[in-house]
Amino acid sequence: MKALITAGGHGTRLRPITHTQNKHLIPIANKPILNYALEYVRDAGIKDVGIITNREGSEVKDVYGDGSDLDLYITYIPQEKPSGLADCVKIAQPFIGDEPFVFYLGDNIIVGGIKKFIEEFERNNANCHLVLAKVNDPERFGVPEIKDGRIVRVEEKPRHPKSDFAVTGIYIYDKRIFEAVNGILPSARGELEISDAHQYLINKGYKITFSEITGWWKDTGKPADLLEANRLVLDNIDTSVKGKVDKNSNISGRVIIEKRAEIVNSNVRGPAIIGAGTKIVNSYIGPYTSIDRNCEIINSELEFSIVLDNCLIQNQSIRIEASLFGKDVRIVKANSKPFTNRFIIGDQSLIEVR
Ligand code: G1P
Repeated sequence: MKALITAGGHGTRLRPITHTQNKHLIPIANKPILNYALEYVRDAGIKDVGIITNREGSEVKDVYGDGSDLDLYITYIPQEKPSGLADCVKIAQPFIGDEPFVFYLGDNIIVGGIKKFIEEFERNNANCHLVLAKVNDPERFGVPEIKDGRIVRVEEKPRHPKSDFAVTGIYIYDKRIFEAVNGILPSARGELEISDAHQYLINKGYKITFSEITGWWKDTGKPADLLEANRLVLDNIDTSVKGKVDKNSNISGRVIIEKRAEIVNSNVRGPAIIGAGTKIVNSYIGPYTSIDRNCEIINSELEFSIVLDNCLIQNQSIRIEASLFGKDVRIVKANSKPFTNRFIIGDQSLIEVR
């Protein structure tokens, strides 16, 4: 079995963080979103992975290369223009050949990996296995209609959803899917929709089975969604302390402290992750916080937040919460008069001050 993972798109919905990097490379619990897909695939015993990139494609390639760091063989498949998910499958046919494969949308994170879905697909002898999750806003997704335990219809972003399930971005197919993606026409927005390919399989009488999951996240719009993904992942970490914690510090709950990190006279309440080389001094780090590499948090309080590499947060008198910091951000106290607020901020940022 092979895997096909999407990692293109422009991530416009996650600006400003995506001004400088592909959304699939944004870290969640200090690991790029795309890593989760790659690790799930590897842990399911798959070695051969195709990654669909933008036409330019290079960012993702720069990070993952030939895949050997993750014990995978990665082939990059650039998509000329964003022509839909079914088009991703179509252009990957030479890479996939006749084998069954997992199609995984690289901006989806699920708890517990994908091995069990592959087993279901095999046990059911299915042509297509879909992974469903209950959601509050099905109209934003592909939505199945289920009758007598079978999927009888799949609609893409329907105005009147026929169930409260979303089709998540994890699909397992056999070669019939190529017949489907070659047999459908572009939708009103000019793209080959993956839901139309599923409907094609249903219409032709092929066997579509499904699993239902909890613990799923995908990028649905706002940067604040990333905090939710971070919460989901941190909820499932195990404690591991490789860095230094001095005797005046207190660590409670599940906390990862990566190598060369230092916790000095501080209180870290998990679940939280402190990245390699990061220093926490005279500070409080609260639940659901991820701080990436080489940051300094000094005399400050931070909770339910994501901080990317090389940030400095110093002498903040009000606790920072529900916040997202890109790389190399500095938040410091003015140390000379006049005491004013001073901002040097990139495009499309949001600052909320008291
Ligand atoms: C795509 C699919 C949709 C699916 C979703 C899951 O939507 O078209 O059927 O439910 O991924 O991640 P998009 O994210 O492209 O809007």
